Formats: sequence, structure tokens, C-alpha cells
Amino acid sequence: MTVVGVKSVLALDEIDLSDLAFWERPWAEREGAFHLLRHERPMTWFADPDLTEASPLAPPPGNGYRALVRHADIVEVSRNPETYCSGQGAVSILDLPPEMVEYFAGMISTDNPRHARLRRIVSAAFNPRRIKAIEDSIEEVAQRVVTRTAPFGECDFVTEIAAPFPLEIICTMMGIPPSEFSNVLRCSNVILSNGDPEYIPEGTDPVAAFLLAGQELTQLMETLADQRIREPLDDLTTALITTNIDGEALTHAELASFFVLLLTAGNETTRNSISHALWAFTEHPDQRALWQADPTGVATTAVDEIVRWASPVIWMRRTVTEDAELSGEQLHAGDKVLLFYNSANRDEEVFSEPYRFDVRRSPNPHLGFGAAGPHFCLGAHLAKREIDVIWRVLFERLPDITATGEPERLRSNFINGIKHLSCRFSPA
Ligand code: HEM
Repeated sequence: MTVVGVKSVLALDEIDLSDLAFWERPWAEREGAFHLLRHERPMTWFADPDLTEASPLAPPPGNGYRALVRHADIVEVSRNPETYCSGQGAVSILDLPPEMVEYFAGMISTDNPRHARLRRIVSAAFNPRRIKAIEDSIEEVAQRVVTRTAPFGECDFVTEIAAPFPLEIICTMMGIPPSEFSNVLRCSNVILSNGDPEYIPEGTDPVAAFLLAGQELTQLMETLADQRIREPLDDLTTALITTNIDGEALTHAELASFFVLLLTAGNETTRNSISHALWAFTEHPDQRALWQADPTGVATTAVDEIVRWASPVIWMRRTVTEDAELSGEQLHAGDKVLLFYNSANRDEEVFSEPYRFDVRRSPNPHLGFGAAGPHFCLGAHLAKREIDVIWRVLFERLPDITATGEPERLRSNFINGIKHLSCRFSPA
């Protein structure tokens, strides 16, 4: 098996996780910096990024944050939501004004009792019959996406396969008409672009673009909700806004922010896992051969390893609600902590040979979906299923698919994104 190394080119004092330039460094150098932080300064304080120069609409910087980089600390924080909450200022680095939290964050930035209520309604809407329908649609969409590309022998894997696949599943699940798919994709790209110039052209105010994209999606969902009230259909949107067994339902505004959350938390993440997998298989053909030789037997461990390897969500924030001690460090009410899942997923205290991509890794207690706690990813099961199905279909229909260039990465400290990845395969 191939061992991927890390490069420690930065000294501790040169590491600044708030500087976008850090995130533009090659992957091995970033890993080297996190390796150093885990061993030398596992709870470093960093100043907040100042986005006000890029946009007058940006929230002002606050008091900075501690970067939690060890698996054990992130597990501890995630399971104590009373001490480390999600609702104060949202789960972003900068405190968002409450109206922005409503639009963009939804349940992920709430605490109990509101969080429990939202999670209850959403979980009830995902009843076994609906899950079965979603699972059938995963297979159908995977076949459709691959059929569209199969004759060409080459493509941009991200824009042709990895991006449309989860997007079409989420849109179909919600009952969004196909004519809106490309609009939804554009808005979702803008919201998670972190200002990347490919999605937000130079000279455009990134926060204004972000708000506009959120409003477009909100408008789309409010229109859909109105239609479903008048004419209920057998889809998730109807289930979410009509009363369920507990007599509870989402308001139209809650539905819209849930949809924005699904697109951000559920769509981009799955897309990037699938893209990182192609790059990993190209760099580690032995691992690909193992899964290809036994698609069912290796699927469960391979899918988890892909999520660990990709760590598509780099961090989430929590805010300290009362003075607390964590691994011997004193934290104070109001302090912000960022949970760096990417670093937890390479923690050598937990993973043997963490820089080895190993499709049979077991156990694999990665934190790609967050750690156990009230906010653990609601879509983990769905995401795993999507990754499994798309790779099974690709192995069946385009078995020699390989990346032909380096991934073009998203310039972001939040989403470990791949924007483009060229690939080649024998036309089918
Ligand atoms: C590989 C794909 C995915 C990854 C890596 C991922 C990762 C995450 C992470 C890190 C969190 C936050 C956990 C925390 O704060 O403790 C989260 C929450 C969430 N995810 Fe996912 N996710 C993925 C796919 C999905 C999918 C497919 C959906 C839905 C269709 C989804 C819906 C959600 C929701 C609704 C939340 C908020 C849960 C809450 O606050 O109670 N995710 N996800």
C-alpha cells in the first residue's frame, strides 16, 4: 500500500488557519501543519479572518477562536452541547446576525429545545417508505448520470458526474422540477464558494452574492411549499409542511432554510467525497483493485475510508456557554472553538498509519460526519449509500475510469472541495 507523506514546511508560529493562503498550500504541507499542531499546540488561538475589506456587508471580526485538532477533544466537545453550543452566533467562524442564521443555517445552528423539535419533524418525514423511494432514486439517478457521459471517453468528472448526482437526488427528493436543477446548483456553488473567483467573479461583493443565492433558493422553496399546500404530493416537501404524527410541521421559512442546509451540508459534501475518491483511486490503484474485485464485500469499509480521506467538511464551530476545562486548558464563556474534523481524521492516537488510504480500514472511527452528539449528520446513511451506488455503477459501466490531471481545488478553509478533475475511460 502506498504511504502518503506529510511535509512540515511551516514552523508553528507561521501557521495561520484564518489566512486563505494557508488553504492554498499543497495538501501535504497542510497536513504537515496539522500534524505539528496536534503534537505541539492542540488548542491554538487564531484571530478571526477580517472579511470587511472584501465586503461592507460582512460581519466584523470577533475575539478569535481556538482550533481543536485532536480527535479526543472534538469528541468531548460534540457530546456536551450544554457547554459547547451551536446556536450562539451560528456554526460559522464569524457571528452571523440572527436573520442570516435563519436563512443559511437552519437546525445546524440551533440548540435545544428548538433543535430537538426541528430534528423530530425532519426525522419523522423520512419514514421507511420515503427512504425506500429515495434509495430507488439513487440507483436511477446514478445510471442516468453515467449514461449521459459514457459515450464520450473523457469528461470533467466533477461537473459531469460528481456534482449532478447528489444534486439531482436531493432535488428529486424535495420535488423540485428538473428545469430548476441548474439554478439550484449555481446557487449552491455560490453559497459554499468562500468567495472563490470561479463562482463569484472579481469585483462582485461576495456577501451580497451569498445573500442573493440564499434568497433565490428561499423563493423557490416558498413557491413550492405554497403549491404543496394547495395540492399535496407524495414528496418530502409535502411531508415536511403538513402535520405529522406529533402534530408538528415546519413553517415555510423553516422549510426554506432546511433546504439550503440540505444543499450545503448534503450536496457539496457528497459531491466532494465522490471526486476525492476518483483522485484517491488514481493515486492508489491497489486500493481501487481491492474494491473492484469485491464490490459488496469491501463497500462498507471503503465508503467510510473515502469520507475519512476526503473530510469534506473541514470544521464546525461551537461556542462555550460556561467556564470549562478541556484537556487541561481553561476555556471561558463566549470563547469560540473550531472542531477541525480533517485533523481528527489523521490523528495518530486513533488511526494507525493515518496517511494511508486503506479501503479495508477497520475500525474507522472517523469524524467526517461530525462526532456523536445532537448534530451528528442527519444524512450520513444517505450519503454513504450514494457513494456506494455511484462507485458500483462506475465500476460496472466505466471500469477503467481514471483521473488524467491534478484536481483543481476550491479555495476554501471550510469545504475540502474539488472544482474540476479531468478523467478518461473506455467509452461505453
Ligand atoms: C459525505 C457526505 C456528508 C458529510 C461529510 C457531512 C458532514 C456533516 C457534518 C460534519 C455535520 C455537522 C455535525 C456537527 O456539527 O456535529 C453535518 C450535519 C448535517 N448534515 Fe451532513 N454530511 C454529509 C451528507 C449529508 C447529506 C446527504 C444530508 C442530507 C440529505 C446531510 C444533512 C445534514 C444535516 C441536516 C445536518 C445538520 C444536523 C443537525 O444539526 O442536527 N448531510 N453533516
